[in-house]
Amino acid sequence: MWFKPWKKNNVDVMDRIAMDRLPRHIAIIMDGNGRWAQKRALPRSMGHRAGVESLRKVVKTCSKLGIEVLTVYAFSTENWRRPKDEVGVLMTLLTEYLRNELNELHQNQVVIRTMGKISDLPREAQHELELATERTRDNKGLILNLALNYGGRSEIIEAVKSLGKDVLSGKQRIEEIDEERFSEALFTRGLPDPDLLIRTSGEMRLSNFLLWQLAYTEIEVVKELWPDFGQTALLEAIKVYQKRDRRYGGIHTN
Ligand code: IPE
Ligand code: IPE
Ligand code: MG
Repeated sequence: MWFKPWKKNNVDVMDRIAMDRLPRHIAIIMDGNGRWAQKRALPRSMGHRAGVESLRKVVKTCSKLGIEVLTVYAFSTENWRRPKDEVGVLMTLLTEYLRNELNELHQNQVVIRTMGKISDLPREAQHELELATERTRDNKGLILNLALNYGGRSEIIEAVKSLGKDVLSGKQRIEEIDEERFSEALFTRGLPDPDLLIRTSGEMRLSNFLLWQLAYTEIEVVKELWPDFGQTALLEAIKVYQKRDRRYGGIHTN
C-alpha cells in the first residue's frame, strides 16, 4: 500500500494545503517531454520515458491525497501527425506502463478509465487497457482517466450524433436536452468537471483538451517540463489553486 503519512520533506507544503478544500478533479496536459530530451541531447523517446516516471509520481500523490479524479492527456487525435516511430514509442510506453503498474494501482484501489477513440489504438495497447479497466472497475479510490486518441471537438460531435440518434428513435425528447443531459453523452459521463487544469512546459493553449468540461476550471500553466514535474510541483499547484477565488460569474456579497 502507498502509505499516507507524508514524508518529512513535504510536511511544509502539506501544512499549507487545506485538506478539506482539495480539487475533486485534476486534469493535466502533460507537455514538454521532447524539449526535456532535447535539452539533454537525448532522443525524444527518452523524454517520453522520463515522462512516465512523472505520471507514476503524480498518480501516487493524487491517490494518497484522496483526489477523486485525475485526467491526463496522454495522446491527442492530432498526435498521429508525429513521425511513425515516435507514435510507436508512445504506444509502447502506454502498454508497458499498464503492464508494470497494474498490480500496484489495483492494490491501491485506483480505477482505470479511458477517454478517446480507443478502437484506433494498436491491438496490444487496447488489450492492456481492457485488462486494466476490467480489473479495476470496482475499486473505490482515485479514478485515473487516461485521455488517449482524444480530441475535444470530436468528442462533442460524437455526443451530438448520439443525442440526434436518440431523438430520431424517439428515446430522447429534444426539449429535454440540457447541459446535464449533454454532459452524459460525453466520455466524462458521471465525472465532475475538472476543478484544476495544469499544463506543463509553459504553453498557454488547450490543444483540443476537454473543451466542454473546462468551462469553469481554474487553469495553471507551469514552466516545468513534464519530466521535471513531480509530487512537490503538484502540491504547489494545489496550493495555488486553493488561493483562487472561484466566482462562476457571480459576485461576493460579503
Ligand atoms: C508531451 O510532450 C507528450 C505528448 C504530447 C504525447 P511533447 O512530446 O509534446 O513534448 P514537446 O512539447 O515537444 O517538448
Ligand atoms: C498536447 O500536447 C497533447 C498531449 C499532451 C497529449 P501537444 O504537444 O501535442 O500540443 P501542441 O502541439 O503543442 O498544441
Ligand atoms: Mg508538446
